[in-house]
Amino acid sequence: MSETTKQRMNRTDVHPITETVLATLSGCEDARLKQIMSALVRHVHAFAEEVQLTGDEWRRGIEFLTQTGKKCDGIRQEFILLSDTLGLSIMLDAIHRQQDVAESAATENSLLGPFYREGAHDEPFGANIARTEGEPALFRGRLIDEAGKPVPNALIEVWETANNGMYEGQDPDQPESNLRGRFRSGPNGEYAFRSIKPTPYPIPTDGPVGQMLLAVGRHPMRPAHVHFLIQAPGYDTITTALYSSDDPYVESDAVFGVKRSLVVEYVKNDSPSDATEWDLPSPFFDVHRDFVLVRSSGAAR
Ligand code: BEZ
Ligand code: FE
Repeated sequence: MSETTKQRMNRTDVHPITETVLATLSGCEDARLKQIMSALVRHVHAFAEEVQLTGDEWRRGIEFLTQTGKKCDGIRQEFILLSDTLGLSIMLDAIHRQQDVAESAATENSLLGPFYREGAHDEPFGANIARTEGEPALFRGRLIDEAGKPVPNALIEVWETANNGMYEGQDPDQPESNLRGRFRSGPNGEYAFRSIKPTPYPIPTDGPVGQMLLAVGRHPMRPAHVHFLIQAPGYDTITTALYSSDDPYVESDAVFGVKRSLVVEYVKNDSPSDATEWDLPSPFFDVHRDFVLVRSSGAAR
């Protein structure tokens, strides 16, 4: 036997390692956990093999994950940001969106994001939630079901950033409840509120995820959007956002939340009577958008 053949035989083959680790899971009684752990082991091993990961690189990877954990506290969740920027968060939504719903007119979901805060004030139909300056905008439409029937009395929470690109919860200089509010749809499913046209903003970049984006040459920007969380008994909750069609980042969202169906036009409304009716300066931006809710599985039709 030649020296090289002997060396080759002594070398531990990567595939037996994977098989050996997988075999340790044979006693796992939780079938789902076993499935997830087995797939994780297979994919992680295949990944290391594909990129021929070195020990030094993996130490840097571990340091990155350590820093990601250290950046987390009661408010900041750097691991969710990592999941968002890797496209994993939106991927889960795509995987679990039922095929029949995906093919219907049902409103698509987007990311909740880290800046949602419970406890928004109840506001009447048409209220203005902007307490800081911006380009005035009217958002209006209806909540309907897949058959086009109105969904009255649904809870609609909205939140967006101020002109400085910060949410009220991030910025002590903004007045309480600036650019967020909670509405109820009317008897015909109608809703309306006044606010400002949103601006694009960067996701937090002062942590390891920001460094990762920089290292790989990605920008941290989210295109301008208004978040909506819509809840009605008997219907699936909609966690979504409306994105501005004229935004420079609408095709390159740092967290992949944009879907074509969620891109809206801010149409300039220069009707003086509309401005008077809504108590807005003329012209203002007008955004018309209906939301289509899907009956929860098991809910009576
Ligand atoms: C947001 O839209 O608020 C957001 C979503 C994901 C990551 C960071 C921010
Ligand atoms: Fe946002």
